[in-house]
Amino acid sequence: MSELSVNHLLGIKYLKEDDIHLIFQTADHFKEVINRSIKKVPTLRDITIANLFFENSTRTRLSFELAEKRLSADVVNFSAASSSVKKGETLIDTVNNILSMKVDMVVMRHPNPGAGVFLAKHINASIINAGDGAHEHPTQALLDCYSIRERLGKVHGKKVLIVGDILHSRVALSNIFALQKLGAKVKVSGPKTLIPKYIDKLGVEVETDFRKGLDWCDVANMLRVQNERMDISYFPTTREYTQQFGLNMELLKSLKQEIVVMHPGPINRGVEITTEVADSGQAIILDQVENGVAIRMAVLYLLASKIQQDED
Ligand code: CP
Repeated sequence: MSELSVNHLLGIKYLKEDDIHLIFQTADHFKEVINRSIKKVPTLRDITIANLFFENSTRTRLSFELAEKRLSADVVNFSAASSSVKKGETLIDTVNNILSMKVDMVVMRHPNPGAGVFLAKHINASIINAGDGAHEHPTQALLDCYSIRERLGKVHGKKVLIVGDILHSRVALSNIFALQKLGAKVKVSGPKTLIPKYIDKLGVEVETDFRKGLDWCDVANMLRVQNERMDISYFPTTREYTQQFGLNMELLKSLKQEIVVMHPGPINRGVEITTEVADSGQAIILDQVENGVAIRMAVLYLLASKIQQDED
């Protein structure tokens, strides 16, 4: 397989297993490029990309911008907080205005689930979903699986426990899709109130006993409690959450085997994970961030190749 089966990256749900392997192989090449003394290649010299962020972001926004600049694309950045969205402009009008400036690709983070799918139906540009509400965060799942592959040699057959606020997590849903497509076994663990009712329909088992889940897994992906998406209390107190589902060094060292610890960021240190665990050799949190640039370069390159083909 030498090209993606899709023209947009809207969610992992729409990718084939071979698409993911192609993205990983391409990211291997770009990882080598970004570790050279000259980190830039001219590959996307004729491509203009708009980064549209309607919701806060640190890692994803910086990582996409760096990936675009490493590929020599022209980049424009848009943040809703300082835009005419504040004056009532609609998503379509905002994007059409930006596209009138001859933009080829749009990277978009939006609070509404399905915003990327909606946009892809209405505008003539390649869309990359950088997180849509509690729905999907495809490049995060790709970089997470790539980081597991890097640390453990492969994803197939590995046991991954996703812990915490599954209900509000686009990272969880995209990871479940990606891990299953790559042949990993997935369980989730967290307070019952933060596990979606439809989880069994995704072929995922729930492990209510966090300790048992940790003893089962090769990798624990510790999610952040997303207070900003909660309109009611889902657990009594943060202290109780941490007592039941927080990962500390004593617990980590008492497990049957040495596991890999992941976190998509931003971390609530002392809530879902202690500082000692986050900064330990078993945590690959900063590897995930580094791999994010290579993965995003791969996605941009592969989608831009399809635009360039259509133009030829
Ligand atoms: N992991 C992640 O999406 O982080 P940001 O919200 O900072 O982009």
